[in-house]
Parts: sequence; structure tokens; C-alpha cells
Amino acid sequence: MTYRTHHCNALRAEDAGTTVTLSGWVDSRRDHGGVIFIDLRDREGLTQVVFRPEENPATAAQSHELRGEDVVRVTGKVSLRLAGTENPKLATGAVEIVATALEILNKSDVLPFPIDERIANEDLRLTYRYLDLRRAEMSANMRLRHRVIKTIRDVMDSEGFLEIETPILSKSTPEGARDFLVPSRLTPGSFYALPQAPQQYKQLLMVAGLEKYFQIARCFRDEDLRADRQPEFTQLDVEASFVTQDDILGLMEKVLVTVFQEARGVTIPTPFPRLTWREAMDRFGSDKPDTRFGMEICDLGEVFRESQFKVFRGALDGGGVVKAINAKGFAKITTGQIETLTELAKQAGAKGLAFIKVENGEWKSPIVKFFSEAEKAALTGRLAIEEGDLILFGADKWETACETLGRVRLRVAEILELVKDPAQLNFLWVVDFPLLAWSEEEQKWNAVHHPFTRPLAEDAALLAAGEYAKVRAVAYDVVLNGVEIGGGSLRIHEPDLQAKMFTVLGVDDEKQKTMFGHILRAFQFGAPPHGGIALGLDRLVMLIANAESIRDVIAFPKNNRGVELMTGSPSEVDFKQLRELSIQSTKKPA
Ligand code: AMO
Ligand code: AMP
Repeated sequence: MTYRTHHCNALRAEDAGTTVTLSGWVDSRRDHGGVIFIDLRDREGLTQVVFRPEENPATAAQSHELRGEDVVRVTGKVSLRLAGTENPKLATGAVEIVATALEILNKSDVLPFPIDERIANEDLRLTYRYLDLRRAEMSANMRLRHRVIKTIRDVMDSEGFLEIETPILSKSTPEGARDFLVPSRLTPGSFYALPQAPQQYKQLLMVAGLEKYFQIARCFRDEDLRADRQPEFTQLDVEASFVTQDDILGLMEKVLVTVFQEARGVTIPTPFPRLTWREAMDRFGSDKPDTRFGMEICDLGEVFRESQFKVFRGALDGGGVVKAINAKGFAKITTGQIETLTELAKQAGAKGLAFIKVENGEWKSPIVKFFSEAEKAALTGRLAIEEGDLILFGADKWETACETLGRVRLRVAEILELVKDPAQLNFLWVVDFPLLAWSEEEQKWNAVHHPFTRPLAEDAALLAAGEYAKVRAVAYDVVLNGVEIGGGSLRIHEPDLQAKMFTVLGVDDEKQKTMFGHILRAFQFGAPPHGGIALGLDRLVMLIANAESIRDVIAFPKNNRGVELMTGSPSEVDFKQLRELSIQSTKKPA
């Protein structure tokens, strides 16, 4: 006998009179004076089943045993529900099955939490992830993820890209995070690294002449976790030969347009706006600006060049900047809120967060006494100051002032709930990132993107002259609503330039040979100009699903301590296993 003739979202009024068999879980059970009603659930939806003692006493008696999440097979006749008892919220709400046979295929234990609601305890949800995934919201997220990946594969295929797998047991790639290492049994004392991204392999595929590569690639990074970060995550990874930046950006726009069309039924406008990194920092204080609201950062250098206020004047005289945002209508901010914002500013490296509240025609602020009338007038003009506004200042080195006000801007927008339309989708490209950044901590230059990224041709002289801070890269990020959903670059394909880049990054000749010999050698055999990008698939699906965390769109994620609670990984292993790997743990057993 078959398990099902229909799924639980299929039956409609037209099916009345037919005999059907459905299988699934008991979603809910109600006892109406001896008549048992259940909502039977499968992946597709719900169908109401009724057990009437007067029509089928044996089956009805059996139905009294049913409990939530029991697995059953039901056979019966599709009937129209009595007038007035239809459920318009349910696709199958016009009908019910009058059961003639019931088979309990498996009983369920008492549940650790109800399936039909999202409980707050995420650790419990992750411990029983298979139950959590039964919830409609989670199951919809899994479907959405499938749909997005399927769409991506179709678009990439139609654009002539080949999906090629690259090793998981691979060699350490410097993408900026810590590697996960896997000890080799056959070469004692040696380790594979799990790929932080397939960066070098995809470039080597370009040297191999495959020209257009993509992969739905798993990446591994041992970094501190946040709501939008996992130690293993998935990228749409792309690389192509003989391409310009415009080719890559155009291709990704095509992918994103199709994905949003398929997954959400919306047409997103292209081309996406492009901001240079400098402009993004200047105006939004972030390399991933959220442009769903204004409150742009305004430069006030000209206003305060001659100021009597030492903090502003000092910053400007020292080569820094004075910048401000106008938090419209936020003069009602409490002292507590000012303190919290100031704390936030200090975390970003600021020395303070000067402010002006405009209330009852008056500027309330500890600093306005230092301002001249001309300065006040200029300030009013530049920031379009009106009654009820709150002005927040940053006076510092350019980066610090931008970053500080950028963070404050986001927090203020959150407090004032400036994002009005949850369906709004603001895509943009940030281009012309800096190539290198000085690390105070390590006292060395680091690649902002990664060491394979190409300097902008017009900045080659700056690179040669050692003016590293000024060199821009052909690197780009795609941002959606203030979230970085992808990033990439055109690559260095010349062995000399690549070696020079490693040298700037402090990788000496010896290390270049041992760590990067393969790629430097490959570049000597006719490497084509190439470039690529990777989209963070989990983040993308999270945004399409309107989910709060990427954990909600990953079937079996790790929690924020890096633990997969359902299976309990990571876990200790047998001493024998370690010995085989020539490994000894320095951690004493508890
Ligand atoms: P990048 O390191 O910028 O580039 O990564 C690309 C995108 O991957 C996503 N992402 C993450 N998502 C979840 N959890 C994480 N821990 C995580 N880290 C990154 C982000 C990011 O934009 N090889 C280069 C790409 C290239 O140059 O082609 C790379 O990996 O959305
Ligand atoms: P002070 O003169 O240090 O008492 O600072 C006066 C006001 O300016 C306070 O509100 C400080 O938070 C603020 N402030 C101090 N330094 C800075 C700075 N570098 N940028 C912006 N505001 C500052």
C-alpha cells in the first residue's frame, strides 16, 4: 500500500468525494466531544483529518491515542467542510479528510519544546535542530536556500561558467583569518589546512586555461563568531580570465537580479550605484554603507579652520578632520543615551563625542560657547540645522572620525527606526579599496583584501615609491542594506609583481618559495589576466529570508562558541587516534 496519494497541501474543494491517503506528522489534535480532529503536516503543508466514531468506530477509537508529532498514515474520503468551518488561512482549508483507516507509523516522545513556535533559547533549538527544522519558518529557509543555489547554478551555467570542485584538504591560504588544521597521518608532523577560500586554486584554474570557473564552495575560518559569521560558511566563488572589473560587476548584478527575481519576485534595478571606498568612508563612515537612510557625514574643516574650540582646532592643525552628522529630530536624546553613544564612539577610537541639541530655538551644548557667530551660521547652513535636531561631532584623524561617526550613525538610525520599509533593498558597490593597511599591532603592512589583489594601474608609481598607504587596489565589495555580501578583485598575474607584493607584506624569499612557490611558478607559464569575486551565500540567503542570523539559513550551524550542539562537536578523541597522527594534546584531561 502506498504511503501517500497526495501531499498535505494538495487537496481542494474540487477533490471532494475522492479517496486519498496522506502520510505525515500530527501537527495538532483537538477533541470535540469524542470527535477527534488532527492537522496532518508534511513538508508541503497541513490538511485537517476528522475521525467520526459514528462512521468508523475502530479508527476513531485509535485516534484517541494520537499525540503531537506522531507519524501516521491516514486514508479517507475528501469532504467539504461544513459551511462556516472553512479555514481561509489554509490552502487546504475548504476540505477535510474523513478517516477510514489510520496507521500509527511511529510514536513521538514528549517534545522538548513546541514545534509551532520559535523559542528564545537558541541552544535548545540547536540541540534538537531536527525538531527546530520542522518549523515552517525554518523549512521555508531551507527551501529558499535551495532555490537560490539552483538559480545561481543556472545563471552561471548559461554564462558559460564551469562548476569545478577544489580540495578541502588543502594548503594554508592567507585570507586574514586563522586556519583550521588537519594533521596528516601519512606525513607525520605535517598538516593540511581547510581552505579559508579556494582563492589560489581558482587562480591556478585560470592558469590552466579553464577561463570561467565557479563553485558553491565551503570555506573555513577560525575567527571569532558573530550573527553574520560562521567558522564554516558557503560562497558562490567565481573566477574568470580576460575580464575587466566591469565584466565581473555586471555578471554579479545579473546573478543577483535573477536570484531576487526567483526567490522574492522583485526586480532590482541595475547597475548598482558605485562608491569609491574613500567616498563611502567620507559620507557614511563605513566600507559597507547602509544607504536606506540619509544622515550623511558632513565635513566641517572649512567651518572650524580658525576655531577657538581647542578640540576642533587641534584636530585640524594636526592634519585631521572635523566631521558631524545631523540626527534630525533627536534633540530629545537622554543623557543616558548620549553617554552610550559616547562610549560607542570611544570604542571606535574617538576621544569624545561633542554634541549640540537644538531645543526651543537654543543650542544646548557644552561647546557652543567656543563658537563664533560666523561659525554658527556656517554650521547651520552645512548641516541644515533646524529646531529639534541633534548634531554629533567627531574631531580626529580622518579614519577615526569617519569610523566613529559611521558607527554612531548606525546606532542612531536603529534608535530612531529610520529604516521604514523592511522590503527595501539598497545594493551598491564599493570600489577602489586601499591595497594595503598598516598594522600597528604587527608593525607591518597587510593586504586589505588578500595578497593576490592587483594595484590600480595608475597607482603603480606610488607602489614603486613605497607610498603604500596611498595605493588603491582593483578590489570591490557588493553591499546590501549595510551588509557586505561579497567581495573580489582583479588579480596580479605577473610573477614579478606578485613577488614584490609578498615582499611588501613581509614574506621573505625563503617563505615565498615554501608557501607560495606553486603560484609564483605557475605565473611563469603564461598566466592570463584574471579576476573574480565571492558572494557570501549564507548572508545573501539570510537577507532574502529577512532572518536575523545566518544560523537561521544553515541546516546545522555552530553556536557562537563554535559548538555544534546536536552532535556535540568538537569533541575529544581517543588517545590512539592522536598517536596515529603523531599528535599529543597539551591540555590535561578534565
Ligand atoms: P572574502 O573574504 O571577502 O573574499 O569573502 C567573501 C564573502 O564571504 C562572506 N564571508 C562570510 N560569511 C559567513 N561567515 C564568515 N565567517 C564569512 N567570511 C566571509 C562575506 C564576504 O563578502 N577569496 C576571496 C574572494 C575573491 O577575491 O574572489 C574571499 O574569500 O559575505
Ligand atoms: P572636553 O573639552 O574634553 O571636555 O570636551 C568637550 C566635549 O567635546 C565633550 O562633549 C567631549 O565628548 C567632546 N570631545 C572631546 N574630544 C573630542 C573629539 N576628538 N571629537 C569629538 N568630540 C570630542
